[in-house]
Amino acid sequence: MTADPDISDRIQARKEVRRIKNLPTVPGIVAKISRMVENPDTSVADVGRLISQDQVLSAKVLRMANSAFFGMSRKISSISQALIILGFEVVKGLVLTSSVFDMIQKSMAGLWEHSIGCAAASGVIASHLGREDAEEVLVAGLLHDLGKVVLALNMPDEMSLVRKKVEEEDLYFYEAEAKVLDFDHAEIGQWLAEHWNLPESLAEPMRLHHKPEKAVLKPEWTAIVHIADIIVRAKGFGNGGDDMVPDMSPAAWEILGLRKVDFLPILEQLEPKLNSLKDLTALN
Ligand SMILES: [Fe+2]
Ligand SMILES: [Fe+2]
Repeated sequence: MTADPDISDRIQARKEVRRIKNLPTVPGIVAKISRMVENPDTSVADVGRLISQDQVLSAKVLRMANSAFFGMSRKISSISQALIILGFEVVKGLVLTSSVFDMIQKSMAGLWEHSIGCAAASGVIASHLGREDAEEVLVAGLLHDLGKVVLALNMPDEMSLVRKKVEEEDLYFYEAEAKVLDFDHAEIGQWLAEHWNLPESLAEPMRLHHKPEKAVLKPEWTAIVHIADIIVRAKGFGNGGDDMVPDMSPAAWEILGLRKVDFLPILEQLEPKLNSLKDLTALN
């Protein structure tokens, strides 16, 4: 027998320890919403009231709801209205985003912009494809790099090593993570999604946005987020941790049935959105 199984056992055990030690608890408000929703007597107004109690949070959620993300023709003026128009899962995603990214701005500048850029691009691609779930796909884009937030917040020493490796060896961020940690932000994202009970439809793009060909549950969402991630990198909007633009997976194009001619209209729609989303970058 070779030593490989031993090594992989050890790596696995190390990952387990990090996983248990480093995952943050689910933001209080998100846990409360989840509990509320399990109760069949909960109404939209109840959830709206809960979110509205936190004025800073609800102002942020409303700003996102009224931003170029969704292109609403009339203003959404209350959380209850946002819940009715955008749907519960989308609002929950916005709440989660606002509470999580609040913590990060100083530790990883640029990631918030990268995430909103990826969300906008995901929404544009989904709408271009005529998908009715464009808003939900957008939330998947918003959350795709959540593993990096955990890394920045809860593993700051490892994060510095990863950054150093990115610079010194000219690596993609996820390659440097794999070298330093034996896992990457995509895997952390998956752990977090399990730990926080996020739906698998959001967990899969978090886990597989760098390997969209492996997606089975929501291959389209994962493929959209993969392409969106690369487009915003290419446009230099925000910073995902390294300056490089990876190749797009041909599988992602196939999954979506996209052709070269689709590319220009997608970029044309995205450009003004990115410009008007710049005011959201001051949110955190
Ligand atoms: Fe990523
Ligand atoms: Fe990314």
